[in-house]
Amino acid sequence: MSDRRATARADARTSPLLAEVRDGLSARPRTLSSRFFYDHRGSLLFEQITRLPEYYLTRAETRLLERHMPAQLAELLPESLVELGAGGGGKTRIILDAAHAHGAVPTWVPIDVSAEFLAESAATLRATYDWLAVRPIVADFTEASLNLGHRVPRPALFAFLGSTIGNFDTPDAVALLSRVRAAMHLGDRLLLGVDLRKDPAVIERAYNDSAGVTAEFNRNLLLVLNRELGADFRPEHFDHHAPWVSDRSRIEMHLVSRSAQVVRIPGIDDVHFEQGDSIRTEICCKYDRGSVESMFASAGLRLDCWLEDERDGYAIVLAAPFVSALEG
Ligand code: TRP
Repeated sequence: MSDRRATARADARTSPLLAEVRDGLSARPRTLSSRFFYDHRGSLLFEQITRLPEYYLTRAETRLLERHMPAQLAELLPESLVELGAGGGGKTRIILDAAHAHGAVPTWVPIDVSAEFLAESAATLRATYDWLAVRPIVADFTEASLNLGHRVPRPALFAFLGSTIGNFDTPDAVALLSRVRAAMHLGDRLLLGVDLRKDPAVIERAYNDSAGVTAEFNRNLLLVLNRELGADFRPEHFDHHAPWVSDRSRIEMHLVSRSAQVVRIPGIDDVHFEQGDSIRTEICCKYDRGSVESMFASAGLRLDCWLEDERDGYAIVLAAPFVSALEG
């Protein structure tokens, strides 16, 4: 994110960011968008999270890709990999390697909001694979339709990994999957990574690691707001709290005020916190096969293949566009 100190005196009528923060903090429950996690430091902290002993998700997903992509891609033979969100790391390589091993020369189409991040990972992958065509698209696929133009050779494999779908509530997740569905052609597939419901203690440990990295990641959001909006949050005056919420099948990230305090954000009214008042910063929904299938059905997709890691309770799922018999 760019440094917007110069506009810190803008008011909520001219700054959508400020209006969003004002509305989130006056809502009950108070919320702040998880978009603010990922500045440079936030991205580094998240990378650290993926290597924590308690955070099983990344390792489980990587194992599943290694185990299943070779056989799955032998059937699909994708001409392109359309990757939604931060890609270019180990998981991308597993998929591209598997496709290439079957003689495909896939085009890689990473889609991300950060042009900088895309340029970096495009350069890295071009350097690694001399056969790879890279066609990055700067876009926020969580907000707008996927405009792929003619840049995507078909059949395409769309990948949305990391259980990032779980960071959306069900209506938003269905809307997002519907936008992906709208960009798919017959014969394309969606590869979705989903974390599954399991013993809540295991899930809570994954988001409350003993080294405190997740807590730092959560508090980093306040530093981003200080920089972007000239706010005066004191991150050390907020506790990281990540409870499992059983009836919604999700774990939530909160920042809980340690004491009564007032936070100043130029351009909006002072924000008052009592001790124990909490701001929700993220949700991470956990699924089972039925809940995934019902989201797919609402989004015009059908489940094609369910690949589950039983040790860690994680799945990668292939979905195809659903075409009714009447459509022909
Ligand atoms: N999608 C991942 C998950 O739900 C990444 C993530 C988003 C995350 N927000 C987080 C991980 C907060 C730890 C803490 O696990």
